[in-house]
Amino acid sequence: MTSSTPPRTFHVKSFGCQMNVYDGERMAELLTAQGMHAADDSDGADLVVLNTCHIRERATEKVYSDIGRLRRDDGTTPLIAVAGCVAQAEGAEIMARAPSVRVVVGPQSYHRLPEMVAAAAAGGRETETEMPAEAKFAALPQRRKSGPSAFLTIQEGCDKFCTYCVVPYTRGAEISRPFADLIDEAKALVDGGAREITLLGQNVNAWTGHDTAGRAVGLAGLAHNLAKIHDLARIRYTTSHPADMDDALIAAHSENAKLMPFLHLPVQSGSDRVLKAMNRSHTADSYVRLIERVRAGRPDIAISGDFIVGFPGETEAEFAETLSLIDVVGYAQAFSFKYSARPGTPAAGMAGQIAADVMDDRLQRLQAHINRDQLAFNLATVGRRCTVLVERPGRQPGQWLGKSPWLQSVHFSDTANLGDLVEVDLIEAGPNSLAGRRVS
Ligand code: 5AD
Ligand code: SF4
Repeated sequence: MTSSTPPRTFHVKSFGCQMNVYDGERMAELLTAQGMHAADDSDGADLVVLNTCHIRERATEKVYSDIGRLRRDDGTTPLIAVAGCVAQAEGAEIMARAPSVRVVVGPQSYHRLPEMVAAAAAGGRETETEMPAEAKFAALPQRRKSGPSAFLTIQEGCDKFCTYCVVPYTRGAEISRPFADLIDEAKALVDGGAREITLLGQNVNAWTGHDTAGRAVGLAGLAHNLAKIHDLARIRYTTSHPADMDDALIAAHSENAKLMPFLHLPVQSGSDRVLKAMNRSHTADSYVRLIERVRAGRPDIAISGDFIVGFPGETEAEFAETLSLIDVVGYAQAFSFKYSARPGTPAAGMAGQIAADVMDDRLQRLQAHINRDQLAFNLATVGRRCTVLVERPGRQPGQWLGKSPWLQSVHFSDTANLGDLVEVDLIEAGPNSLAGRRVS
């Protein structure tokens, strides 16, 4: 067990979505502002924060095995704090099941982490899983340093209540952060080195606010104002819901040059019966028509999606409708998951839960369609000239890795610096990356 001295070093380990990555960065900044130092890994840290994900069963199980693995050879453990969505959903259970955990803090309250850690170091066990509507963000320190590509959470929570999903319970109701705060944070990120900002939210395209003139604006208006930040070159956003894809946002993809040609728009299933049971507020056809409208304004846009196979009651014919939808859309990439019954969600109690081997088979077939289309998309960009944002050195000397406007990984060999936007010709494509040649 840890001594009662306050921790001097910390390590934050984030699982799950990009919003958790963002929260993890903010927690690290908060602890640094308290005078603590970041350790490279959990072995060397006095405090370990596990920033957890609850979206699927496997993600949740990982937390308990990770807690176990933090025990060191001499029998001691660091001060363990569990944050994120598992903390929110299963805080009491974690405290009961894992005596080595000293702090449990939900995603809406991590601004309180320093005081909770101090209380735990003094011998207590601290839990905070309230969901106050008041600004956690206001209590966090200013952003200072950033890599070339930064995340900025602009919206949190979800009011959609898809029947399989825990997010409305773990992250709470939809909240949009205020316009002025976001512009300020974006400027700080750009001053700190960011050239690209990805706006994050569980329903990012449901963001609403008021600009400095007091006009009501949506995500398109926010992106328009962010584009005025001179050294910000690229804007992205994720994750969107089809129901919140308004005309202004569709138009922004052809009007706002800094808005990258990439749209992650989950559909989950191609069967209207399943979509209805999922409480998705769209049909397969309305989704396809929406994609057509986006493509009419921005023909080269890369479309990405999320899919769930094996939702309760999904028949082989309904699954085949999902494959047909994939064939119609032609995804540049996609994420696909086996349905996972989450405690407390309506779908967990539905009849017709699907056997694991059926789900495995469907997932494989679905991924074969996605992989085929992803390779086709990559091959179709060969011969194009585009900018690449240099994000890190490659494995070979002189090699650099970055992203194309369509979010493809591109490697090239030439002199360059992190954060450069270099022009390349795309010369070769594989399933997961492309080779570029820098234009001299
Ligand atoms: N089972 C499987 N996949 C899920 N997702 C959300 N909840 C579940 C669940 N219970 C997937 C959806 C969502 C993505 C973030 O995770 O596809 O878009
Ligand atoms: Fe979950 Fe649906 Fe909300 Fe996405 S839109 S976070 S899948 S409830």
